[in-house]
Amino acid sequence: MTTTLITGANKGLGFETARRLTAAGHTVYAAARTPEKAGRAARELGARPLVLDVTDEASVAAAAARVEEQGGLDVLVNNAGISGHPRPAGAFTAADLNGHHGSQTVEEGAEAIVRAALLSTEGPTGTFSDAAGVSPW
Ligand SMILES: NC(=O)c1ccc[n+]([C@@H]2O[C@H](COP(=O)([O-])OP(=O)(O)OC[C@H]3O[C@@H](n4cnc5c(N)ncnc54)[C@H](OP(=O)(O)O)[C@@H]3O)[C@@H](O)[C@H]2O)c1
Repeated sequence: MTTTLITGANKGLGFETARRLTAAGHTVYAAARTPEKAGRAARELGARPLVLDVTDEASVAAAAARVEEQGGLDVLVNNAGISGHPRPAGAFTAADLNGHHGSQTVEEGAEAIVRAALLSTEGPTGTFSDAAGVSPW
């Protein structure tokens, strides 16, 4: 079993990835940028809440210190992000990010993330992959 930190775990792909990993028995830090969002997601998921705004160095340092105190991490899913546009070109997972106009569900979109999060330490490195497996860059 792994200990995994997921940024932006309060909704969308991050929440679904956290849901899948906690359901499989892994320990998950559900990180979100406010205590309310992190707490709500953690309660719903059975995860550990963590306040973490990835654009705020003090917030990142505080979150890292807290995780370190509690034994550290095996996996980081650095999922948090914004589009800067309500419907980014090429987006395909329906989420708040694209006004829910993607063609696949968050359950489908999270498949590749969950698979990568569960790779063994001997697993492939330096590759790009999607739901279909390793893809050429
Ligand atoms: N959906 C797609 O088809 C698609 C395509 C390409 C890339 N992606 C990437 O996949 C990731 C997840 O997106 P999604 O589709 O699940 O969208 P989403 O539902 O909008 O989720 C985005 C998550 O990122 C969080 N976030 C944004 N800025 C943050 C910050 N500064 N610090 C911490 N958390 C922050 C959001 O938190 P708040 O609730 O606080 O805003 C939210 O939890 C993003 O990085 C996105 O760019 C998605």
